Amino acid sequence: MGHGEAQGKIILFGEHFVVHGAPAIAGGVSSRVLVDVEPSDENRIVTAHKVVEKMSLSGIERILAVMGIHGRYEVRLTGDLRTYGGLGSSAAFCVALVNALADERGLHLTKREINKYAYEGEKAFHGNPSGIDNTIATHGGVIVFRRGRTPDENSFEFVELYKPLDLAVTFTGKYSETSKMVGRVKKFKSQDEVGFKQLMDEYTGIAGNARHALERGKAEDLGSLMNANQALLSELGVSDEGNEKVNKMALDEGALGAKLTGGGGGGCCIALGRDKYHSREIVHKMKNAGFDSFQTKIVKML
Ligand code: MEV
Repeated sequence: MGHGEAQGKIILFGEHFVVHGAPAIAGGVSSRVLVDVEPSDENRIVTAHKVVEKMSLSGIERILAVMGIHGRYEVRLTGDLRTYGGLGSSAAFCVALVNALADERGLHLTKREINKYAYEGEKAFHGNPSGIDNTIATHGGVIVFRRGRTPDENSFEFVELYKPLDLAVTFTGKYSETSKMVGRVKKFKSQDEVGFKQLMDEYTGIAGNARHALERGKAEDLGSLMNANQALLSELGVSDEGNEKVNKMALDEGALGAKLTGGGGGGCCIALGRDKYHSREIVHKMKNAGFDSFQTKIVKML
């Protein structure tokens, strides 16, 4: 028997742009995935969570292969992280699984190895992941991540938050596969290279200013930058009606900024409150309107 855990994430800035080499900023959330493994006659995923079994089994096989483990396992997935909607659950599952297998085998892995093995598993879920989700699930904290030409060239730095961020996270009620949304952006890029480059350049400016605002605690600037990032995501075609509606509801409630987080096409949106009382009010409004919504705080290190 082996046990492993990993946390979910919120992308504050730069989903999709990060796939194409722009820096993205993400923070870990306290919700976690827990994985227990036990040797078995075949690989099996056992969970009450909503998961795509085929992808999960493929993720398990890929991780066993890259770790050089020949056995088969029953993999039990529990924890309080929602397994849908862009909160990094597949990456957290992969990191927790690597940790559980290492525990079961008595292996002492470095964070670099854990991240590398989890990335191989992530490919079963997303095809062409940037690596940001498994990096945050491995290391936690708040990071600026940049994709390299190869996974070994991926890089990240921790960001020193001046003060915690109080967010409302709302599930739009619709889930789109990340790989499909990543494919949509790839198509946009191939059909309009100049337009795509303009959006990338605009976004890169936003990312630099956002880091500055995070480090200096400039919440209002941060909110405006979230709105500007959201406008670019809409132009890219990854923000659907549900995302637009939820963002507008949050802004009407006085949120400093609102945007989708993760792959989009539904999934989750985040709204920045002035403080925890304000983000709670936003969550109440969302819940009263029938949305699944919760409060979270992004802190320097969990
Ligand atoms: C998914 O959480 C974020 C995307 O940018 C995909 C990726 O970075 O692999 C949409």
